[in-house]
Amino acid sequence: MQQRHVRFFGGLISIVLFAAFSVFISGCKFQPGWGYNKGYSPEQPIPFDHSVHVGKHNIQCQYCHNQVERSTHSNIPALSTCMNCHMQVKTDSPHIQKMRDAYDSGKSVEWVKVHMLPDHVRFNHGAHLKKGVNCQTCHGAVETMSRVTQQADLSMGWCVNCHRQPENNAPLNCTTCHY
Ligand code: HEC
Ligand code: HEC
Ligand code: HEC
Ligand code: HEC
Ligand code: HEC
Repeated sequence: MQQRHVRFFGGLISIVLFAAFSVFISGCKFQPGWGYNKGYSPEQPIPFDHSVHVGKHNIQCQYCHNQVERSTHSNIPALSTCMNCHMQVKTDSPHIQKMRDAYDSGKSVEWVKVHMLPDHVRFNHGAHLKKGVNCQTCHGAVETMSRVTQQADLSMGWCVNCHRQPENNAPLNCTTCHY
């Protein structure tokens, strides 16, 4: 008898917490720019082309996105990484001259962010790469893209469907992905 009551109230509390959480989260969601942005491909201040750098010249992703395994966020490379080559390469290009001017005056390029999760979602590149999920599984064939385009919708369903695959056996509890 006693135990059934405990279980009943335990269940009730979970439902109330779940409902409260859902209401809280849905209050935060009406913001443009995140989730369901499949196909988003903003113009960048400098027309950086992955298909040239990765596809044609075989530069590895991590040469530029060198924080991707270590930190929660991947990084866009600093201009100094670009200037390793572009002090010599294509110096006659107006885009390269623009980069060089910014570099010489200590400025950076204001790249427009393509992928964006809402603040209530926790994501970690390192955990995925460690399990052998490669960049293309989530970002598509970036090495063929002249301009980066978001390939996945970044919805909760997209994350959870993959976590649920038996071979992944990845965690599904809410706090894995939500603060
Ligand atoms: C020579 C440097 C360089 C290399 C190599 C490179 N990238 Fe990038 N990447 C950039 C720069 C600069 C940007 C920001 C401008 C843009 O979005 O095109 C970027 C943007 C991105 C974005 C979009 C980030 C956002 O705002 O959401 C993704 C995803 C990405 N790269 C994945 C890759 C993958 C995968 C590879 C390897 C197949 C790769 N990159 C190789 C320099 C590089
Ligand atoms: C490892 C060397 C290397 C690095 C690092 C590198 N690039 Fe390049 N980039 C090249 C080469 C080689 C070309 C010329 C490609 C071609 O014409 O075939 C090029 C071409 C370009 C062009 C086209 C120039 C034009 O007008 O034709 C732009 C813009 C550019 N790179 C931007 C960047 C940016 C931004 C970064 C840093 C995120 C970067 N590159 C890093 C080697 C590099
Ligand atoms: C499991 C899916 C997944 C894999 C694998 C993955 N990414 Fe991402 N990537 C994402 C998501 C989701 C975001 C948006 C993160 C955010 O907004 O907090 C993102 C964002 C980025 C960004 C923008 C900066 C940032 O962290 O927000 C870059 C650059 C990037 N990824 C590069 C890479 C590269 C390079 C690889 C492979 C070495 C890779 N990603 C592998 C899902 C993935
Ligand atoms: C292509 C499959 C795939 C996709 C898509 C994916 N994940 Fe994962 N995720 C995994 C795998 C595999 C692991 C590693 C599980 C393990 O360590 O055993 C993981 C682990 C994680 C972890 C780390 C859990 C821990 O152990 O700390 C977080 C957080 C996470 N994923 C969040 C997300 C979010 C948020 C998204 C969507 C934006 C997402 N994932 C999309 C496959 C995926
Ligand atoms: C593997 C990662 C992952 C797990 C596990 C996860 N979520 Fe999410 N959730 C997301 C992502 C990513 C979003 C943002 C994109 C979206 O709204 O679909 C999201 C969005 C939401 C939203 C907002 C929906 C909306 O329409 O804006 C709610 C509510 C939510 N999650 C509740 C939960 C609850 C409750 C659980 C546990 C049963 C859970 N989530 C487990 C990744 C996850």
